[in-house]
Amino acid sequence: MTADLIDGKAIAAAMRAELKTQIDELAGRGVVPGLAVILVGDDPASASYVRAKEKACRELGMASFNYTLPPETTQVELLDVIRRCNADPKVHGILVQLPLPQHIDEHAVMPVIDPDKDVDGFHPVNIGRMVAGQPCFLPCTPHGIIQLLLRSGVTLEGAEVVVVGRSNIVGKPVANMLIQKSRTGNATVTVCHTRTRDLAAHVRRADIIIAAAGRAHTITADMVKDGAIVIDVGVNRIDDPSRPRGYRLVGDVDFEPVRQKARLITPVPGGVGPMTITMLLYNTVTSARQKAG
Ligand code: GUN
Repeated sequence: MTADLIDGKAIAAAMRAELKTQIDELAGRGVVPGLAVILVGDDPASASYVRAKEKACRELGMASFNYTLPPETTQVELLDVIRRCNADPKVHGILVQLPLPQHIDEHAVMPVIDPDKDVDGFHPVNIGRMVAGQPCFLPCTPHGIIQLLLRSGVTLEGAEVVVVGRSNIVGKPVANMLIQKSRTGNATVTVCHTRTRDLAAHVRRADIIIAAAGRAHTITADMVKDGAIVIDVGVNRIDDPSRPRGYRLVGDVDFEPVRQKARLITPVPGGVGPMTITMLLYNTVTSARQKAG
């Protein structure tokens, strides 16, 4: 079997077209959804994500407010910027790009964001609501993964899902969303991590594999059941002198051999990546609609 590709760019484009209709409707009422993007420091990967988020906002006719702060910004200064965004009626969503520099405590920063503007879904109140199955902003990458699966016609109910990775941004929330008693859940979920004794034995049982370990070649073909569905969340740079930049991006999955066994697979790039930004736009538009009543 050679897997069909799950085309994240196409699914993201379809969702953005749906959002555009809502943005136009809001514009008719004088409301422009606005996203504040706060970046501390000059990490090149983070800067490139932030640029992509701002470009996506502009393309849909949303407002983006860029706060790029120097690496030596103190926690107090960062909290001050967040409080100003909380108070600004033009800002419907606030995103603080992670990771933050070492001297800033992420766990002290997230709770200061107004939960009603927390379009990343990282505020403890939104995490709690998600776990309890209440309405909330869902974190973007996990929500994007579930949209990719549903819009590719994959049945989640009763599926054996193995999540590889337990990060706060992907592994923990996606596992939680998939066990909820809802249309976007009802799966049986196993979470594997760096202390899992026999990763291959768990992954081999999976109808759906979600690879979010942050390490290239974590999922090899011998671990994959015939006909499995593979979602690759990894974005890893590996040296490639034949490329102009000297590197190329690969996921956590050994793509070509795994593709020969799977039924559906996401490419890297062009799979999960475009969905993350789309779900951020989705949350920001939702926030603006809630505010507009
Ligand atoms: N860093 C990596 N992924 C994310 C994300 O989804 N949101 C934020 N704020 N930072 C990130």
